Amino acid sequence: MMHTRRRLIAGNWKMHMVRAEADGLVRAILDGLGGPPPARALAGTEVAVFPPFTALAAVAPLLAGRVSLGAQNVHWAQTGAFTGEVSPGMLLDLCCKYALTGHSERRHVFGESDAMVARRFAGAAGAGLVPVLCVGETLGQREAGQTQAVVAEQLTHALDALDALEAQAEFVVAYEPVWAIGTGKAAGPEDAEAVCAFIRAVLAGHSSGQAAATRILYGGSVKPDNAGAFFRQPNIDGALVGGASLGAGDFLAIVRAQ
Ligand code: PGA
Repeated sequence: MMHTRRRLIAGNWKMHMVRAEADGLVRAILDGLGGPPPARALAGTEVAVFPPFTALAAVAPLLAGRVSLGAQNVHWAQTGAFTGEVSPGMLLDLCCKYALTGHSERRHVFGESDAMVARRFAGAAGAGLVPVLCVGETLGQREAGQTQAVVAEQLTHALDALDALEAQAEFVVAYEPVWAIGTGKAAGPEDAEAVCAFIRAVLAGHSSGQAAATRILYGGSVKPDNAGAFFRQPNIDGALVGGASLGAGDFLAIVRAQ
């Protein structure tokens, strides 16, 4: 059976943009997308932005269903004594659809383990958010030939954390090789495709229907001039964009890339 997976272009703003800047960037993105929702030429593409927590409330009312909203992390519990954390319900209250889990900066700068990421992923899925599970190997792991083992381990932890009900929920996987993030050195499109095909095979080991329907994104130095080469790969369903999502011109060029 053929599945059409709607392309997803997600802008991860990281720790950038106070409210006024976020407002300006979103308005420029909406202007660029043009026309009443959704612009016909882009009907096959979903655009999403992931502002910092502090700008979510300012951005949400501007989006009017034309651009989806996501958060950069999420806790697993609904409320509780978890200083500094943000719950799935708080994000749903701000009209978020998505939440990143296990971004490499959370794993490698803030020490989040596979087990913690798995709890965040399952908690978000159970609460009705669409979690975006980020996976990817470091340069050392790649050079040691461990890419598949690392990615499989990260995926399996997260999938195993889902209970029977959560296992039916929608989620997205973003393959982001750590050595490609913020370095200007993107993976080669065929290399990225090989890992994304492997990710789909791991997903199929859990549920074949879900493997065919789940969107797998590539992330790591995606720019207007390399985006199209990723999108032409059969197992790459879009991009998670960091640096190039901070300006409307580059971000829109990636949204339009063929
Ligand atoms: P980059 O970041 O596009 O700046 O490499 C990607 C990401 O961290 O999601």
